[in-house]
Amino acid sequence: MWPCATRARARVVEAFARRPWLTRLHTHTGSQGVPLPLLAQGVAEVYALAEEINAAVGRRQVDTIDIGGGLPVNFASEETAPTFARYARLLAARVPGLFDGRYGLVTEFGRSLLARHGVVVARVEYTKTAGGRRIAVTHAGVQVAVRTVYAPGAWPLRIAAYDAGGRPKAGPRTVQDIAGPACFSGDLLAEGRALPPLEQGDYAAALDTGAYGFAHHYAYNSLVRPGIHGYAPDGYGGMAFATVRRAQTVAEVVADSGGAHASALTTLRAP
Ligand SMILES: Cc1ncc(COP(=O)(O)O)c(C=O)c1O
Repeated sequence: MWPCATRARARVVEAFARRPWLTRLHTHTGSQGVPLPLLAQGVAEVYALAEEINAAVGRRQVDTIDIGGGLPVNFASEETAPTFARYARLLAARVPGLFDGRYGLVTEFGRSLLARHGVVVARVEYTKTAGGRRIAVTHAGVQVAVRTVYAPGAWPLRIAAYDAGGRPKAGPRTVQDIAGPACFSGDLLAEGRALPPLEQGDYAAALDTGAYGFAHHYAYNSLVRPGIHGYAPDGYGGMAFATVRRAQTVAEVVADSGGAHASALTTLRAP
């Protein structure tokens, strides 16, 4: 360890010793793309620091460890990997003291809990062919999948194809792009995907768009933030739906765009 890191560590221990109301330590090693051993190492480090603080102050001042979130999600298939169980087993092996009851445990899992529970369903407005490739133009693009559109290699989404009645589309697969409504050619939910050919009126579903998709609306082109609808079994073999977040209204878009100040510059008078 470098001397400055040692000094920083000593200052953290001292800060706890001087502030007896500090009782928790927290780590969040990263979100998506962080391998499990590195996540576990982060937890092991914070556990070791808790033990060091408690030894230095001579009592169990740090009573709770918050291990953050960061468990990655497999966006490539239906398989859940890694699982919470695998992460727990790794932590138990790497940091056995974490589970012996001396510390309260807090977790902050986000994506791994919620990503699978959301899907963006977009109607195909029309289809076209450009550069020899079929393109299904939908209502969902950069305004709902900003990371995917700007960094498709890092944040690819699986797409499922449904017909106008909501049934899974059958038929031979054709390589096609799924485009969004924004006014630039890169507004693509997916590029070069082999899917049953999507037609006008069909639906393209972008899977695994729970979690961060809820918060990532992008106001470009004044595209409204869509509504979010939840569902649960109704107890009679069907599903019950509820609005979780209503769609943004055009009036709200105008207000967010500075509508109240529309004449601010045209009526500006120099002092
Ligand atoms: C402090 C903190 N905790 C928890 C999370 C959730 O992470 P994830 O969604 O990867 O589980 C984040 C997100 O980056 C975070 O910054």
